[in-house]
Amino acid sequence: MLGKKKILITAGPTYEPIDPVRYIGNRSTGKMGLALTQTFLQEGCEVVLILGPVSIETAYHKDFKIVNIETAAQMFEECEKYFGWYDIAIFAAAVADYTPEKIAEKKIKKVGNTLEITLVKTKDILFEAGKVKKSNQFLVGFALETDDEIVNAKEKIVKKNLDMVVLNSLKDAGAGFKVDTNKITILEKNNKLTKFELKSKELVALDIVNHIKKIIS
Ligand code: CTP
Repeated sequence: MLGKKKILITAGPTYEPIDPVRYIGNRSTGKMGLALTQTFLQEGCEVVLILGPVSIETAYHKDFKIVNIETAAQMFEECEKYFGWYDIAIFAAAVADYTPEKIAEKKIKKVGNTLEITLVKTKDILFEAGKVKKSNQFLVGFALETDDEIVNAKEKIVKKNLDMVVLNSLKDAGAGFKVDTNKITILEKNNKLTKFELKSKELVALDIVNHIKKIIS
């Protein structure tokens, strides 16, 4: 049992507004983050979940706090409050890397044949967490790659000061968005690779939590 450890989880997509009715979003469902939340709660941990706009039900639990956000900027603002609090943080959210520079005050009318929207980089929340990580904190990132998965994941561990990356490749059938299953590879800071079979997101969450338990014990 992990016991009363403090867990910070991000999950779901972010919505970046273009005008009062439109946004840039992605297909993340938040299911992986929810499954992780449930597994940590079963371990007796205290969980704070920073959740993007998704349509899933979350049940009440005395050790569970959920913070609903929409944009990457809001996700950063809420996460930052917990940077010094957590023992283990898992960043499973599909955060927009870019957001519209300006939000149009009124609905954009269709006038020309093309429309240009300037996007600016959002803050990389995981990178910011890594910058202030203390030696007794364990920080985990997710990576969804299409090519050179392992090389990219290794770079991510170094660049973002992570202890572990959970990698899912879009090449694997049954992994990624919009499916209830996932096939992951875990990469640790010491370059150790562990591959797992395709399974339900609930069982994947159990694998992830058990793996973390092994590393930190
Ligand atoms: N992430 C984050 N904040 C962002 C972007 C990403 O916290 N603004 C986190 C995600 O939750 C995930 C990890 O960073 O845990 C990986 O994100 P990803 O977009 O795959 O990697 P990047 O380093 O942004 O690189 P690239 O998009 O170029 O592959």
